[in-house]
Amino acid sequence: MIRVLFASSEMSPFARTGGLGDVVGALPAALSALGAEVSVVLPLYRSIDRQKFVLAPFGGTRRAPVAGRSMSFSLQKASLGPVSVYFVDRPEYFHRENYYGTTDSDYPDNAERFIFFSRAVLALASLLEPRPQVIHCHDWQSALVPVYSAMDREYKVRFKDSATVLTLHNLGYQGIFPRVEMQTAGLGPSLFTPAGLEFWGQMNFLKGGIVFADALTTVSRKYAEEIQTPELGFGLDGVIRVCREKLTGILNGVDYARWDPLSDPFLLSTYGPGNLAGKAACKRALQRELKLEVDPKIPLVGMVSRLVEQKGIDLVTQHLSRLMSLKMQLAVLGLGAERYHERLRAFAAKHPGRFACHIGYQERLSHLIEAGSDFFLMPSRYEPCGLNQIYSLRYGTLPIVRATGGLEDTVIDLRDNPRRGNGFKFSAYTAEALRETVKLALSTYRKGGKTWDRLIANAFKADFGWETSARGYLEVYREAYRRKTGKELSA
Ligand code: ADP
Ligand code: GLC
Repeated sequence: MIRVLFASSEMSPFARTGGLGDVVGALPAALSALGAEVSVVLPLYRSIDRQKFVLAPFGGTRRAPVAGRSMSFSLQKASLGPVSVYFVDRPEYFHRENYYGTTDSDYPDNAERFIFFSRAVLALASLLEPRPQVIHCHDWQSALVPVYSAMDREYKVRFKDSATVLTLHNLGYQGIFPRVEMQTAGLGPSLFTPAGLEFWGQMNFLKGGIVFADALTTVSRKYAEEIQTPELGFGLDGVIRVCREKLTGILNGVDYARWDPLSDPFLLSTYGPGNLAGKAACKRALQRELKLEVDPKIPLVGMVSRLVEQKGIDLVTQHLSRLMSLKMQLAVLGLGAERYHERLRAFAAKHPGRFACHIGYQERLSHLIEAGSDFFLMPSRYEPCGLNQIYSLRYGTLPIVRATGGLEDTVIDLRDNPRRGNGFKFSAYTAEALRETVKLALSTYRKGGKTWDRLIANAFKADFGWETSARGYLEVYREAYRRKTGKELSA
């Protein structure tokens, strides 16, 4: 039985801002269904309900060195099915309004907070008996764990039999800080080089993780290729090319226990491939809730997204009037940059009945949009994996996506493959290309008939359960362990 410790800053249902939380919320259980013993460690944020999740103290006071000082903290433990979840409790760092900062700016002490977190992860790993054989880190927030475990004199010995794996969920967020944070981290100048954590004169957490992890993964095959190019490597493409032997692309799975229209508790009427009347009822309910004109015939396009550049929201807002000159309704749920909020709100005020936006983060509404829309729009500039297009397929809601990263790997365009097509894709990052593809999707909808029925049937059929991905990770763990220790992991 492989013993794995996940280190992450998010895990659904405890703390989630996007896909990272979804992945860490589901992958451990999928691995444990395959026989692995998985635990997870995350920060104890203020918003985590200790009573509801039955947190109990674990061990006594612990200490972690940060900025030359010894910081005390305690650990709490909860269980989520077969998975043990440990929480690092130090209120000064984590009892705040948000996880990483306000909508305007990051917390100024984020470097220190996540240096501390990485140290605390290793302190916990030292406590676990027997030790984890793999420490699986996610994104920049835990990317220093591989650095410490490979380069720190004490940890090197302690973790000689533990391999590190780092998953890159998004190269757009690297944890870049002033050089002085090397001291906060207790990392010497010999690591502040282009071959180490130095990045244009600053300290880069993610780069450190990339260099020192025993294996790297990212969340789709296509994205694994893209991050090796200057266009989408965010300045790290060179380092990633050097490390490509240890990089694997594994597509995220979907938690169908939470995202299935046959059993979704948020829906007024559940439905499935054999019962599309339920979907029509969901459309009606959504139109009503968002004060769109209630009309079963008008195609309804949905979007649920962080409203940031990555998601291609500028392609939507740039020429919104032109896009909305197409005969359709558009419903947007999102939260992000203020300039997009303003633009969307203003447009909604001018076009009631046809365009609705809800600025905020609302799980319930995100399910209603998945179910009630005919199409789901994801015009991302880049998309490591993307989950909503996969949810959409299961909800019989055809994705209209830009052909990038995981969107490329999961959506089959009708034009590329009329028999297997399950959605629509466009390549050029322009408002015009987006509009043309939406136009084609709408005319396909209007024509209906066999082509439409086949698209919907193909969408329902798509299966991205976690088991396949989990098998991929087990393979990576074995390889990482072999690389680190020269030994085989027993099955
Ligand atoms: P990312 O992690 O880059 O935001 P993903 O597609 O991987 O993109 O995951 C986004 C997840 O967050 C999905 O589960 C989506 O439904 C959810 N989500 C994003 N924005 C909102 C929102 N405003 N309200 C509710 N859920 C949201
Ligand atoms: C990131 C990516 C998204 C991916 C998610 C989970 O937030 O932006 O594409 O699905 O991580 O891996």
